[in-house]
Amino acid sequence: MFDLADADLAGSVLDCPGGAASFTAEARRAGVDVVAVDPTYPPAGPAAERGRALRALGEHAAAEAERGSAWARERAADFAWTFFPTPEDHLAERLRAAAAFAAHASSEPDHYVQASLPRLPFADGAVDLVLCSHLLFTYADRLDDAFHLAALRELVRVARREVRVFPLVVVGGGGEHAGLGALLEQLAAEAVTAELRPTDYRFQRGADRVLVLRPRMIDG
Ligand SMILES: C[S@@+](CC[C@H](N)C(=O)[O-])C[C@H]1O[C@@H](n2cnc3c(N)ncnc32)[C@H](O)[C@@H]1O
Repeated sequence: MFDLADADLAGSVLDCPGGAASFTAEARRAGVDVVAVDPTYPPAGPAAERGRALRALGEHAAAEAERGSAWARERAADFAWTFFPTPEDHLAERLRAAAAFAAHASSEPDHYVQASLPRLPFADGAVDLVLCSHLLFTYADRLDDAFHLAALRELVRVARREVRVFPLVVVGGGGEHAGLGALLEQLAAEAVTAELRPTDYRFQRGADRVLVLRPRMIDG
């Protein structure tokens, strides 16, 4: 999705929103310094309690995966069945990811922070790389352009090196979000550079580019 090479994961990484995906679990296994953020994570509190709540979130995600998979099967023509050859492969991967999330998040809950865009509890340039998948653009039917701009500014604020956003298409079809160009123009006026880079991952039709944003360099 993010066209990531191993070198991109050197340094610190923020996955926002992390949801009940397995990125943080897998990145931790590879020794990456990573934190995930999501509004559904439990608030600050005793680690054991947070671990239990995160495990429950993973179990809920597994049930949701069955529902999401049925939805994708009904709309099979809206998806490219190459990365996931069949709906059954897609469901198996979602279930595997939810289980990996539950196992890791319950054992290392400190890597899962409750927060919501457009405000993140991190200092300017706190992490090297910020990843954002399946929130911005995906839900542009519910999240307006003002939210998108505020959220992108916030992701750029906390990123020292770059922000990658995937996908750029609205859920349910219709291609890349119509407001993308205007948002990038606004960010360019704020000295944020944007690259629309092809990516190999294929699932939603038309979702074949990752947005790479680079913040203005401060003090070289
Ligand atoms: C479809 S999931 C994507 C999760 C993960 N990135 C993935 O691709 O599997 C969307 C996530 O966005 C989170 N979310 C909703 N509103 C948000 C906000 N204002 N800021 C950050 N995350 C939000 C939801 O809780 C949910 O976990």
